[in-house]
Amino acid sequence: MRESEGEGRRGMVPRGVLPLARQGRLVRRMDDGVRRVSPSVERNRDPILAVLRGWLGASGLVLEVASGTGEHVVHFARHLPDHVFQPSDPDPGARASIDAWVAEAAVPNVRPAIALDASAEHWPVDATHSPADAVLCINMIHISPWAATVGLVRGAARVLAPGGRLLLYGPYVRSGVETAASNLAFDASLRARDPAWGIRDLEAVASLARDAGFAAPDIVEMPANNLALSFRYRTASR
Ligand SMILES: C[S@@+](CC[C@H](N)C(=O)[O-])C[C@H]1O[C@@H](n2cnc3c(N)ncnc32)[C@H](O)[C@@H]1O
Repeated sequence: MRESEGEGRRGMVPRGVLPLARQGRLVRRMDDGVRRVSPSVERNRDPILAVLRGWLGASGLVLEVASGTGEHVVHFARHLPDHVFQPSDPDPGARASIDAWVAEAAVPNVRPAIALDASAEHWPVDATHSPADAVLCINMIHISPWAATVGLVRGAARVLAPGGRLLLYGPYVRSGVETAASNLAFDASLRARDPAWGIRDLEAVASLARDAGFAAPDIVEMPANNLALSFRYRTASR
């Protein structure tokens, strides 16, 4: 059975970690009450890091949308020290968790988290945040309304430098490819929690991206029936 990304393995709560149900998934809170823990991060962070190494240049600015607990950005920053990471999340508790993980890890190449709602027409980014070399978004598209995906793609086109990349990770439905039973069950569970959520059709996301000036995606199949996608920004349609 799919151990759904962003879902976590229910019932396994190590000592010193408190469960915290939010956004339809299980995250845990360290007993400092601020840092959050997502069990899926430990499983997917190295496979994602491996694709980032292939897609990111030698250095640059990476804007992460929907950083969640902050565990990913700390891991990537440790292993990609020549990149500067700008985490973000609309949830104040998530931003506190991100900043706490960054402080604890003492990684110098992560900036304080900013409040960014992907669906907003204007993102709170200025000359210090853009042009970005990459916009990274892990496991948000299916756990948010479609407007968040529309905003993500359009916002990425606004902040990316030409040649920059929009990098997505998560489960997708693909035409001509049988959807794994575990992903069908995950999709049903998402929609039961919120009818506006659900696993997206890859072609619908690629079509949005095309309209916003991105090339067709490079696609890497990832563990647990997830995909990593890289859309290269190629026009100046802002
Ligand atoms: C399942 S979590 C994934 C977090 C993290 N990327 C990870 O993989 O552990 C979904 C995240 O999306 C964020 N989110 C939901 N709607 C959003 C939106 N409209 N714009 C930006 N982030 C959003 C939530 O606050 C949450 O942190």
